[in-house]
Amino acid sequence: MAFSRREFITTAVLGSLSLSVDAQEPKEKASKVRQTMTTGPYPRPVIICAANGLNYLDDAYAFLKNGGDTLDAALRVVKGPEDDPNDDSVGLGGLPNEEGVVELDSCCMHGPTRRAGSVGGVRNIKNVSQVAKSVMAHTGHVMLVGEGAERFAVAQGFSRENLLTEHSRKIWLLWKETHSDWWGPGLANPNWKKRVKPGSPQSEEWQMKIKRMEEVAADLGIEPGLRMCAIRKVIFPPTGTIHCSALNDKGEISGSTTTSGLAWKIPGRVGDSPIIGAGCYTDQDVGSAGATGSGEENIKVAGAHTIIENMRRGMSPLDAGMDALKRIARNYNGDKDRLKYTDMTYYVLRKDGAWAGVSLWEGYEADKPHRIAVHDGTKRAEKTANLFPGFSQAWPPTPGSLVY
Ligand code: GLY
Repeated sequence: MAFSRREFITTAVLGSLSLSVDAQEPKEKASKVRQTMTTGPYPRPVIICAANGLNYLDDAYAFLKNGGDTLDAALRVVKGPEDDPNDDSVGLGGLPNEEGVVELDSCCMHGPTRRAGSVGGVRNIKNVSQVAKSVMAHTGHVMLVGEGAERFAVAQGFSRENLLTEHSRKIWLLWKETHSDWWGPGLANPNWKKRVKPGSPQSEEWQMKIKRMEEVAADLGIEPGLRMCAIRKVIFPPTGTIHCSALNDKGEISGSTTTSGLAWKIPGRVGDSPIIGAGCYTDQDVGSAGATGSGEENIKVAGAHTIIENMRRGMSPLDAGMDALKRIARNYNGDKDRLKYTDMTYYVLRKDGAWAGVSLWEGYEADKPHRIAVHDGTKRAEKTANLFPGFSQAWPPTPGSLVY
């Protein structure tokens, strides 16, 4: 029987959801109608960002209202999750690479001065969004990576610190013990258990696998209420990330994206977030766009740049974002069996204040729809408009879990 990790999660772990991706009906209507039907003039200033930036919008909006710079406003938003040890998608506490080391990526674009800065694969420095701004402001380069970027950050006055929190370290160990060959109990261990191969989600083997993961999670000291969430992150490596674009009442616009990237990645892997034109793109003449989701897929369609060029040619923010999503779908000939292993959300802000949030799927799971956070005088989070009905499975699939 062809096994999918979505089926496994929904039946073996969550237990209460439908198996069919296409059969899922949205519980909440997307803000598509509002985004397509509303006509200008649109309120300005306006800030849009990924949902994990919601709590930081008030301060950034007040800063913009008082004449603050648009890039500095965006950086105020993304600094919140970067500093938050409980947000394991960005900055301090981000989920690490396969060696247990947190590596961060970020880029930014400043519309008014048409400049850009970027850093990739940075260790030990939590506010990489500000390091990206420093590259922009204090060098003749656009992008620094790895050790050189870290040394540059220290020279600029950023402090080195250990970014791996206990929370993230334990989930990483859960991944090591249950998804790599040599960690976990050896043959001589009296509690040694046969490792199970993937089967159907209802199979005894899968139930055993989950049970074993729960035991390992307990042994690692992961609290009972957090165990299923940790198991999900092991099986569906998340990509985290926050993007923010900000527009002031003069029409100046900037954007920033920052992330700890794909969990359990090969050291040195960088995704879309530090790539100008993929994770973020701002053109003072048109608008600003950014992305969260599968970096690999977004790089291949130069997502943020594609969206800006679409708007330059007259598309609405919603249509421009949907077109970029369709390009991702086109790369798989629209094959939803494969596309459901990936996901992407774009945050799109036009220079006149019109905006849209679009996603490939409704969300990663039924009770967690993708959302875009907005502040245009009223702070809120709205469900994004989705290209496909249903819920994605995070990338990449576990080896052996797909039948081609
Ligand atoms: N979008 C974040 C990443 O893939 O690294």
